[in-house]
Amino acid sequence: MNGVLEIEGGRPLAGEIRVRGAKNFVSKAMVASLLGEGISVLRNVPTIRDVEIVLGLLRAHGVGVEHDPVAGTVTMNPTGAGVAKSADIITHAGASRIPILLCGPLLHRLGEAFIPDLGGCNIGGRPIDFHMEALRRFGAEVSKEPDGLRLVAPKRLQGMQMELEFPSVGATEQLLLTAVLAEGITELRGAAVEPEILDLVAVLQQMGAIITLETDRTYRIEGVDSLHGYHHYSLPDRIEAASWAGAALATGGDITVLGARQLDLTTYLNYFRKVGGRFDVTDDGIRFWHAGGDLSSIAVETAVHPGFMTDWQQPFVVALTQASGISIIHETVYEKRFGFTNALRRMGAHIQLYRECLGGQRLCRFGQRNYEHSAVISGPTPLHAADIEVPDLRGGFSHLIAALAAEGRSSVSGISLIDRGYESFTDKLDALGARYWRH
Ligand code: EPU
Repeated sequence: MNGVLEIEGGRPLAGEIRVRGAKNFVSKAMVASLLGEGISVLRNVPTIRDVEIVLGLLRAHGVGVEHDPVAGTVTMNPTGAGVAKSADIITHAGASRIPILLCGPLLHRLGEAFIPDLGGCNIGGRPIDFHMEALRRFGAEVSKEPDGLRLVAPKRLQGMQMELEFPSVGATEQLLLTAVLAEGITELRGAAVEPEILDLVAVLQQMGAIITLETDRTYRIEGVDSLHGYHHYSLPDRIEAASWAGAALATGGDITVLGARQLDLTTYLNYFRKVGGRFDVTDDGIRFWHAGGDLSSIAVETAVHPGFMTDWQQPFVVALTQASGISIIHETVYEKRFGFTNALRRMGAHIQLYRECLGGQRLCRFGQRNYEHSAVISGPTPLHAADIEVPDLRGGFSHLIAALAAEGRSSVSGISLIDRGYESFTDKLDALGARYWRH
């Protein structure tokens, strides 16, 4: 269902909500269960569509799965795993990009895998060249089928060496999930080191893998002959936590995010403080609030970890429309991640997009190309209500925030996209005193 939320904005959001496990970790940890001889148990799992997608994909491959949404526990037994029909994979995958990460584990377990044509948020070209190069170097053979790609492993996959041109999160995970059972040593240079990936390394280590991370973004993985199941409690969702922090800033509110962890948010918290937000870290979470007065403008450049995450930028942009002066965001991870600003402009924000790299020194892949990947925001501008359509997951959440900050009644359509990554977000809006109607 598409879903429409009518929102009566202009009121500060205030109250307490909880975030559970990180969307961008739990899906990968669930895939890792396919590598083990035995049962794996993952805890702190949020009830979001991405989790349902992986549950569906695992079931389609014959994995025994139990999900207790209230406890947030998923139990996975891969003993009976087998080849799934391509049509079932396509149905369960929907528009997600998760199937590509099943390749390594399926090649090890079954000797073959199928990747449907991939979906995912429309925020750039999102090529899979690093993934395919890695899988080929491990020894997989790839052929085209009408609806996707078929991979086969004629013999046990072999360790290899590879350097990534860009520290891709997905490609790093692909290499880790494949290298752990490949024969010999794999060395991956120029890799990503996001906290969600380090939590995946922790899961793989529990399963019996041997993975070393060097100081220079190099992973060395010593392949082992078999792995067993794991028991793990997921790290919290630092993107969701920052999204609610942005909502507190944009609406002049006060939101306590239970479950949020400072360690994963240190970079975000620096920027939050510099624009004038206040926060307080407790044993249970982080309280974020707007201290009153004008917010300050700022220049931000998105980057891979430990930089300012690309997924933090959208709610932050909404808050920056309320900052006095000129703010700049230079997006260096995805080339087309400012589509969501069209709606903000219609709500009264002053946001200008540029092809040039503005506001930073970082070497950016998009500088000499035709992408509007820098945004200049001048504020403060009061936002007014509008009818808007959710473009993608993070952009969609920022639209919600904008509608909650804007005077008047907005209509936000396509909100079911937000269910992909934000658990029970309407319950959380209730807890924060938002006024809205879901159709
Ligand atoms: N890239 C390539 N070739 C590849 C793979 C990636 O050129 O084979 C490029 C991409 O085009 C992009 C850059 O590398 O410009 C980074 O992509 P990356 O592979 O790191 O992203 P991802 O693994 O597809 C994950 C998250 C994203 C998050 C990014 C960056 C998941 C399921 N998705 O995507 O999350 O923005 O890492 O941190 O983990 C979201 O949650 O809304 C979301 C989009």
